Amino acid sequence: MRRLHISTSGALLASLLAIAPSPALAFYFPGTAPASYKTGDAVPLYVNRLTPAESLSDPKLRSVFSFDYYHPPFHFCREKDGPKEIRESLGSILFGDRIQTSPFELKMGINETCKFLCEAPYPAKDAEFVNNRIYQGYDLNWLIDGLPAAQSLPDPATGEPFYQPGFALGLVDEAIPRLNNHYDIVVDYHEASPGVFRVVGVLVDPYSLGDSKRQGDDKATCTGGQIPLVLKENEGDTNLVVFTYGVYWRSNPTPFATRWDKYLHVYEPKIHWLSLINSAVIVMFLVAMVSAILIRTLKKDIARYNRLDQFALEDFGEGGDADDTVDDSGWKLVHGDVFRPPKNPLLLSVLLGNGAQLFAMTALTIVFALLGFLSPSNRGALGTVIIIFYTIFGFFGGYTAARTYKFFHGESWKQCFVYTPVALPAIVFGVFFLMNLFVWGRGASGAVPFTTMLVMVIIWFVLSVPLSIAGSWIGFKQAAVEPPVRTNQIPRQIPPVGGYLRPLPSMLLAGLLPFSAIFIELYFIMNSIWHSKVYYMFGFLFLCFGLMIITSAAVTVLTIYFLLCAENYHWQWRAFFTAGASAAYVFASCLVYWVRDISWTSWTSGVVYLGYSALLSALVFILTGTIGFFATWLFTLRIYRSIKVD
Ligand SMILES: *[C@@H]1O[C@H](CO)[C@@H](O)[C@H](O)[C@H]1NC(C)=O
Repeated sequence: MRRLHISTSGALLASLLAIAPSPALAFYFPGTAPASYKTGDAVPLYVNRLTPAESLSDPKLRSVFSFDYYHPPFHFCREKDGPKEIRESLGSILFGDRIQTSPFELKMGINETCKFLCEAPYPAKDAEFVNNRIYQGYDLNWLIDGLPAAQSLPDPATGEPFYQPGFALGLVDEAIPRLNNHYDIVVDYHEASPGVFRVVGVLVDPYSLGDSKRQGDDKATCTGGQIPLVLKENEGDTNLVVFTYGVYWRSNPTPFATRWDKYLHVYEPKIHWLSLINSAVIVMFLVAMVSAILIRTLKKDIARYNRLDQFALEDFGEGGDADDTVDDSGWKLVHGDVFRPPKNPLLLSVLLGNGAQLFAMTALTIVFALLGFLSPSNRGALGTVIIIFYTIFGFFGGYTAARTYKFFHGESWKQCFVYTPVALPAIVFGVFFLMNLFVWGRGASGAVPFTTMLVMVIIWFVLSVPLSIAGSWIGFKQAAVEPPVRTNQIPRQIPPVGGYLRPLPSMLLAGLLPFSAIFIELYFIMNSIWHSKVYYMFGFLFLCFGLMIITSAAVTVLTIYFLLCAENYHWQWRAFFTAGASAAYVFASCLVYWVRDISWTSWTSGVVYLGYSALLSALVFILTGTIGFFATWLFTLRIYRSIKVD
């Protein structure tokens, strides 16, 4: 349990409430305030797991597995008394960080050109393992003073340099893998006040030196730039590798507060803007249509209530209906059935409760991210915040499920209380656990430790479930939402519908629109997840999320309006599935992404990718479906209120 640092969460919440974000996005959680060093002070270098990154030999080649830095076949140098683990937040562990100490000795302001680290033998089997990881383009991830060791890359479009965290384990040259055994560590420091230095940037240039020799206790010759280090894989070969490093301290004018800026690079901002404008146009079109319908029904309503004379009403009717292809009297005819409970009301209520919980969690997380609280400088904050919000909003989920179930005249209350907090977490946890089995099976160390899983289960059981049940109880105690029209005893015959109103075509058509709002951002998020890049476009994400909500709501309302006009009153599940259909496109785009951009190094990578893609799509399904349902519910309540029924 020593890995877990849950108290961070409490402190985090408290400090979030107390402190406003600063414009420079430099917000420090307790314990991460700027560290100051004097000349000669030791600056610790921590190592994190190895992540699969861009493979130079085949840019499409990808693995999903990450490895512990001290995974034995790597033979990386350890301290004499072994590496120690650095405490991390729960979110950090869930997102795969495994941070440990290292034997590197960095002294503030003191350059070293060639320092001996250790000598390590690589038996044939391990040499093969390491060479394969070099082919697959694995990256080393180090941390100095909380900053990731990066490579400086030019932006493909502007040429402006930015820092990309991680640097290569090795290099493939003419199909021969070379292991990097010398690291030039370049640390940028800023002199905050005379004699007080702070770390504001870390770059590492790795080299493969085939001719380095150990000289004495901590010295070596770092030579052999022309002769690269190649690990031989033949049985009987023992490769003795000398690891060395150099440290270069460079003065830099960047203040501590903005040191993360060069890491948080927005790729191709133009594309984001174009996609935003594109979906904004769709949204405006949809919203205009929905408002037109609402205004028409409601205007007639007002006209009727005001007892305007018949001519005025007809005048309006002529202007509105003349060139309309849809017969808009249909929806009025089904007033005695429209609030008839759907089939499987329990399942729908449970889904809606979970959807509401997801929605609240996502919305608040994105707002927090937008305000700069979840900057990557707060390692693991994203994961931690997601867990906290999900747990807290269990209350909201339970409440929503109970209110809708009551509206559906549900009877099986016990099931509603129990299934709501269990359904989604069970699915998510099941997939998570299954995927972790694969990762364990591969011997990779990206797997979430068992203790962390246990803690998750405990948090869920002790906090989330009771909160949800409390919410359900309150929802259950409240009076049901009163439908504006009475439901007839005998269900009305539904005339057959054809064309685009049939279930599948209507869902696929309607689902395309919310998907188009999130498509580009989704692509960038996937890129950052599967290529281990920093995602920091929360501003765009926020706008996209807003557009997606409006699109889902509007397109579902429109579909259901046409459905009701065709005298079909089975709208509840239809509304959920219509908006939720965008998840089918999300899953399809995951598959396209695989075919276009990735060729997995192993079938297990493919399985893990598919598993997580399916999970993501399921979450999108529940989220958008819930948005669609509630928008339609409000819409039907509103328009049927305008009918005067005796
Ligand atoms: C250390 O190395 C850096 C980079 O090469 C150089 O700019 C700096 O002047 C050196 N510092 C000392 C004290 O030699």
